Amino acid sequence: MEEVGVLVISYGSRETAIIDTFIRSENYRVEVYVADKQRNPFNVKNAAKHVVIPDLNIEDICKFVEANKNKIDFGIVGPEKPIVEGVRDLVEKKTGIPMICPTRESAIEKSKVQQRLLLQKIVPSTNPPFKVFNPRDYKSTSEARRAVYAWLDTHENRAVVKPDTPVAGKGVGVWGDHFADREQLFDHFLSSFQFGSVIIEEKVEGEESSFQAFCDGKHIVPLPDTRDYKRAFDDDKGPNTGGMGSYKDVGDVLPFLTRDDRAREEQIVNRVFEELKGRDTAGLKGVPLYVAFMHTADEPKILEINSRPGDPEIMNILPILKNDLVDVCFKIIEGNLNRVELEKAATVVTYKVPQDYGDYSGAFPDRVNKDEVTTPIDLTKAVGLSKEYRDKIRVYPASLELRGTEVFALKSRAVSVVGIGEDINVARQTSLRGLEAIKGGGLWNRTDVASKQHIDASKRHMTVLRRKP
Ligand code: GLY
Repeated sequence: MEEVGVLVISYGSRETAIIDTFIRSENYRVEVYVADKQRNPFNVKNAAKHVVIPDLNIEDICKFVEANKNKIDFGIVGPEKPIVEGVRDLVEKKTGIPMICPTRESAIEKSKVQQRLLLQKIVPSTNPPFKVFNPRDYKSTSEARRAVYAWLDTHENRAVVKPDTPVAGKGVGVWGDHFADREQLFDHFLSSFQFGSVIIEEKVEGEESSFQAFCDGKHIVPLPDTRDYKRAFDDDKGPNTGGMGSYKDVGDVLPFLTRDDRAREEQIVNRVFEELKGRDTAGLKGVPLYVAFMHTADEPKILEINSRPGDPEIMNILPILKNDLVDVCFKIIEGNLNRVELEKAATVVTYKVPQDYGDYSGAFPDRVNKDEVTTPIDLTKAVGLSKEYRDKIRVYPASLELRGTEVFALKSRAVSVVGIGEDINVARQTSLRGLEAIKGGGLWNRTDVASKQHIDASKRHMTVLRRKP
């Protein structure tokens, strides 16, 4: 069997899933070299070499690659921070090892303003009404405040506040979720405005889908749609999170969308891809266009585009990929990936998280993860299930840390379980069964990810929206 060395830059479950897919290869003996945020128990166990780089800074990642240069054939990157900071450019320049992720120049999420302006030029219907506030255009804070309030007046306060860059200020804030009045909204706005431009855009009503596609720089290979669960609590209540779970139906189309909706998504993403390709062909490798769509009463709107796989959404795809992921990666590097095949199966991902995860606002002071440091997590039963039902269930540690022989939860999403089944309900039950087998650490999960009730509500919502004149 051919031996292949792969560098994986890892943040959470998304990368655990990538590593799992590599080591399950039937065509290659894959040795993984992992640059990790912490001692993730799955990664430590399965890596040929494992290094902890808590902030995933690209200089230290590059040193790790240089030290193992003769063993690594290519690298693949999950999290956005090293991508936006230019990990591909640096590693390829210093070592010649090909990296599967966009170049710094092609990382579309590095500027939300540029993203909106690009869409305005090529597919304006996908932009909600928006305005860019650039600090250079305002002489004082009170002048900026007047301009923001004037925008709110004309949009009935239905506002989403987004800093231009992913790291500036407090991040995305939504009227009704993060602030209840204009003062709060403006404080949030200022926290980013002091560093650079801020976009305010209209909050759009609809149902979300996540569109992902592999890309070799020349061709885009769309993957089936998935539905993410962003809010912390059941019934889509509570603060936004990185994603509490996600589902995928047996085919490409989500149950509340139509084939036409899906075709329109593909058309839009192709249009964006063609525009970007014209600027920097080879730069777009990996999953350069993860697009969060909102399906509304009229055209689908784009909430955001990222240049990396979705977490949890890529976990709905990898466990049912029929192709060998190593071959897919070689094709991406060579620029000749034309298609991939998936099993005809539904998948449901559900995360277990610490008690206080998602409580950014301090609005739920009783949700404190007191057990975090003191109670270890026991994954034995869940991992046992994944071995017994090899094709049906996967357990993917995320923000878990191996200390000695014990595993503890840190602050973020702790561990996810993917259920695979002949329909969404079977996949969901399997995912929940895996979660129940994880003990300790005061972890909890949403109970309504991919539930019939939730999916029916999405269907009804789309029916009502489609009826609107
Ligand atoms: N689940 C949302 C994201 O990956 O951005």
